[in-house]
Amino acid sequence: MILVMPMNRLGYLKPENFQEHNMKFEFENPTHLVFGAGTLSRTGEIVSRYGKKALLVTGGGSVKRNGTYERAVSSLNASGVTVVECSGVEPNPRISSVIRGAKIARNEGCDVVIGLGGGSAMDAAKVMAAAVNYEGDPWEMIAHGQDNRRLPTSALPIITIPTLAATGSEMNGGAVITNEKTTVKSFVIAKCLYPRVAIVDPELTLSVPQDQTAFGICDLITHVTESYFNGADGTPLQDRFAEGVILTAMEWGPKAIADGENLEARAQVQWASVVALNGWVQIGTAAAYPVHMIEHVLSAHHDIAHGAGLSVVNPAWMRFASQARPARFAQFAQRIFGLSLQHPEDKEAAMEGIDKFEAFLDSIGCPTRLSQLEIGDALLNRYAQDIVKIIHDEEGRLPGRPPMHEADIVKVLRSAL
Ligand code: NZQ
Ligand code: ZN
Repeated sequence: MILVMPMNRLGYLKPENFQEHNMKFEFENPTHLVFGAGTLSRTGEIVSRYGKKALLVTGGGSVKRNGTYERAVSSLNASGVTVVECSGVEPNPRISSVIRGAKIARNEGCDVVIGLGGGSAMDAAKVMAAAVNYEGDPWEMIAHGQDNRRLPTSALPIITIPTLAATGSEMNGGAVITNEKTTVKSFVIAKCLYPRVAIVDPELTLSVPQDQTAFGICDLITHVTESYFNGADGTPLQDRFAEGVILTAMEWGPKAIADGENLEARAQVQWASVVALNGWVQIGTAAAYPVHMIEHVLSAHHDIAHGAGLSVVNPAWMRFASQARPARFAQFAQRIFGLSLQHPEDKEAAMEGIDKFEAFLDSIGCPTRLSQLEIGDALLNRYAQDIVKIIHDEEGRLPGRPPMHEADIVKVLRSAL
């Protein structure tokens, strides 16, 4: 099975290719981006280019409490677009919600789908749009270890309007869905899932509470650390892109947390979150996403916030992976935290950089131990089994740099208890 993150058609790297400097890739991101404070008011004008009856997908009610929903509906109605509501998508969105929404869209004859909310509402909306035309059970789109996965090939036009800066779902072709019956949370990536338009209005994020703001910052940083640490050698421009995203998030993130009304900080963080996973940073790196794969299993079992899970797993994984690739982690320590290196493979500096990264996560209010998420050691083996069932290489290992045996996954998680 191959994990292909946005725009990376090469699949993940095999260990024998880690050192290849081939600079060979294709790139496409068809999503039209409309970015800026106040752009929510353009929703009707934009959506009316794609349809007359919209399924409006939202989460647990934040958009209703803060007025965003009403403003979106007014704009749509003013442009002659009728709205059919699908509210109540839960964080870590469930396949049952996807099926419910697709049924509404089909019965009502919707011709466009809008995801208005965090990554959960947007991901659910994307898969609903594809499920409308999909023959059979939409869970078959999601990678869960099946032999013959049928990816969706068409979808109703998708418009995304994020209200939280985190996932980058608004401008990529991926979605993450949970099967609550089997406790599996996994991904689908397909060309038809790229939104036609992403309307990214930082004003909509002013109401995000401190904890979710911090989790979002951790998520966006982890999107670029995955490709930075797991990608091919010889991609210096991608390194600088990733470092730029991290440094920007570390500069502006704490400002957005300290003062949620700081629109400039909100805008910088949100732009960083878009760039972190719209494919630009990852071009040519052919990286796997082991930290994400590990976190998804934790949120499948414990329904924790994705960014909070990453905040625990990423530093623990980094300590493990740095043993195999100290020079890369030393580079991170030097370029992100200004540490000086005794030599390019300075393991001490590498470790200090990871410690500093973990301290940053702690300083913005993210958890760094599993116990803070009330997760103990009872299911460590089960998590590892679940992860490699979803994705594994020819030798049964979780792809990454280095690939991980089940025992390695258990070791990393144990180190984070
Ligand atoms: O549900 P509502 O009431 O809207 O409240 C949400 C939810 O409780 C709240 N929230 C969102 N915007 C708000 C707000 N509260 C106040 N004001 C606002 N403006 O925040 C809570 C979390 O929302 P959620 O959508 O779950 O968060 P996030 O954006 O972090 O999305 C997480 C989901 O996306 C997946 C994750 O695994 C997880 O399922 N991911 C999707 C990716 C993608 N499609 O590319 C990549 C990511 O790596 C990630 O895996
Ligand atoms: Zn993520």
